[in-house]
This record gives sequence, C-alpha cells and structure tokens, in this order.
Amino acid sequence: MRNRILAACLLLATLGGCARDGAPTAAVSPFEPRASIQEVMQSIVDPSADALWEAVSTDVGPNGTEEHQPRTDAEWLAVRRYAIALAEGANLLSQPRAVAHGAATLEDAHVEGINDAAQVRAAIDADPAAFTAHAQALHAAAREAVNAIDARDARRLLDAGERVDAACEACHTRYWYPHDVKPVWPAKLGKP
Ligand code: HEC
Repeated sequence: MRNRILAACLLLATLGGCARDGAPTAAVSPFEPRASIQEVMQSIVDPSADALWEAVSTDVGPNGTEEHQPRTDAEWLAVRRYAIALAEGANLLSQPRAVAHGAATLEDAHVEGINDAAQVRAAIDADPAAFTAHAQALHAAAREAVNAIDARDARRLLDAGERVDAACEACHTRYWYPHDVKPVWPAKLGKP
C-alpha cells in the first residue's frame, strides 16, 4: 500500500505534489487563463496572423503589382516573432477559458447564422477534445511557418500562411458561424 502511495506521489510530483503525510493532493495548475477566447483572438491570434499573411503578399495598385516578402535578416526576424506568437497563441486555446467576458458581443454578432457566446460555449463543451484538435492544427500550421522562416523560404511561408488560414476557417465554421449562409454564384441561380 505504502509503495502504491509513493508511486502515486512520484506521478503527482510532476503535476501537483503530495501533502507531507504522503497522501496525494489534487494537482494544481500554475496557469491563470483570465483572457477570454475573444481576447486571445483580438490580442494575439488575429494580429499575429495578419502580420504573417502580410509578410508574403501581393499588392495590386495604380502603379502595378508589388510583391512583398522578407529579405533582410531584420525582416525575417520580425515575421518570425509573429509566427512564434501565433503558435503559442494557439496553445492558449487548448486551456479551458471563457468564450467572452460579461456582456461582450462577438464580432459579426448581427450577421445571420452567427453563434452567440453561450452557443459557442455549448459547442465546445459538447466535445472539448475536438476544440483542442482545432487549436493544435493552428499550432502545427504556425510551427510550419516558423520552419519556413528559418529556411528563409518565402514560397514555403506562403504555403504555411494558407495552412494557417485553413486552420482558422475550420474552427470558425464549426464554432463561430456554423450556420453561415454561403453566397451562391449567379450562374447557379435559377437552375433546378
Ligand atoms: C480552436 C478554434 C479557433 C481557431 C483555430 C481560431 N479561432 Fe478565431 N475564434 C474562435 C471562436 C470560438 C471565436 C468566436 C468567439 C469570439 O468572438 O471570440 C473566434 C473569433 C475570432 C475573431 C472575432 C473576435 C471578436 O471580436 O469577437 C477573430 C478576429 C478571429 N477569431 C480570428 C482568428 C484567426 C485570424 C485565426 C487563425 C489565425 C483564428 N481566429 C483561429 C475559435 C478559433
């Protein structure tokens, strides 16, 4: 019996610890996830992804097309910082946290088919592992961006950016706008 308690303590030592008498105590997380999912989106995920996408992009203006990509060490370093922030921002989504605080309304709340915070909460709670899997997909895509940056490969960074975009979209269509009404191409209108 004593051995079993010791074994449990050894296991728990990495998670939380044991009381002095050797009895296992509940594991206590050192994290304090105060920011809501909405705040993580607004403060970390969205601005970091925007910077990543802008780093390799094409502008079409009155003077023709302008291709952007990082060229100097300083530019590669700048975009790398955003990719790291995005990857770790994705990790923050794997921690249990509020969807939105107080009376905060979600962006596009007025649009038909958009979930409110309570509906997002219910969808997450119905299968928390599925939400975490979406967060991990974003993390993996952002890490691929880091790898592309370390290889100084703009083409690969562009592809990683598309993978990031797909990870945002996959999670949003499931939790944020699951009833989104997709626009119909005019050619399809009126056809049976
Ligand atoms: C694991 C799921 C998940 C992933 C991945 C994800 N989001 Fe979100 N996002 C949500 C949920 C849920 C909401 C709706 C609740 C809210 O507004 O915060 C949301 C809302 C948002 C909002 C609106 C915030 C507001 O003001 O209400 C923005 C902007 C946003 N996400 C950007 C992004 C971008 C950009 C990415 C990809 C780089 C991304 N999200 C990836 C779950 C995710």
